[in-house]
Amino acid sequence: MAWGAIATWRMAHDGVIEALRLLEKQQSAGDAVETLIKTVEDYPYYKSVGFGGLPNAEGILEMDAAFMHGDTFEIGAVAGITDVKNPISVARKLSKDKFNSFRVGEGATKYSMLEGFERKSMLTERAHKIWEKRLKEIHENNLNPYDGHDTVGAITLDQTGTMTAGTSSSGLFMKKPGRVGDSPLSGSGFYVDSEIGGATATGLGEDLMKGCLSYEIVRLMGEGFTPQAACDKAVYEFHDKLTDRYGKAGAFSLIAMNTQGEWGVATNVEFTFSVGNNQAEAQIFIANMGANHTTEIQPITQEWLAAYEKRIKAPIE
Ligand code: GLY
Repeated sequence: MAWGAIATWRMAHDGVIEALRLLEKQQSAGDAVETLIKTVEDYPYYKSVGFGGLPNAEGILEMDAAFMHGDTFEIGAVAGITDVKNPISVARKLSKDKFNSFRVGEGATKYSMLEGFERKSMLTERAHKIWEKRLKEIHENNLNPYDGHDTVGAITLDQTGTMTAGTSSSGLFMKKPGRVGDSPLSGSGFYVDSEIGGATATGLGEDLMKGCLSYEIVRLMGEGFTPQAACDKAVYEFHDKLTDRYGKAGAFSLIAMNTQGEWGVATNVEFTFSVGNNQAEAQIFIANMGANHTTEIQPITQEWLAAYEKRIKAPIE
């Protein structure tokens, strides 16, 4: 039976490797997706997810996360959660609850404490420095405050055929308190059906929500589209429609995997992702929008990786 994992951005690569190791040992898709996302949440240099994520306009780090089980359609989600080590684990736990399974703000944090999840100040000194610097730049140069919204989104398929989806994000940098993006929203940030496949999104939540693209990609795969054809059709047709009717389409990138471990990606900005399955080791690729509603996908180069490593760890001046 096929198995595999796909996740957004280069930051997910170590998590994808770990997820594939679990899946190869016949562990569940749920454990694999949670482990994958925790790996990203725990790494302090990824500034849009978990520990080290960037705070809102008031300097508070509010995080969003979700978990979905593709056999049962169980969903758990948190939004605006603070001071909790792994929002994805809280979301997964909530997915087991028949009621109250999407919690926001204080209610989400309180639930985590009651359920024994680890409390942790998630705002690093580095993230705080970036926030202070940005605040100064915004005031001095009268800039649009919003920047950066890279979510880790992942789909996993295990050897029993179960599929799961997970997301985690600190959302839009400098967002207003209480702002929630697409990441915890079913259909927008993620969707999975173990009989078809799954999809997940990263990008500007406000615009992703307008298209419910994760659901649309799964729906298209259910109609027989390959993951790549489903991603191309959903993402580029919506990009054009939004540009036409709303005047502008924010950045968005979607990934998908089907029940055979086949995958697809579409994006309207340069986008990296990591993917592997029972036939191919985890590998990082870079994707760009191609001509005529297609996607150009290439393996990442060593030069790109070296520059990325340098960039994420560069001193904040
Ligand atoms: N896609 C993450 C967000 O907009 O919050």
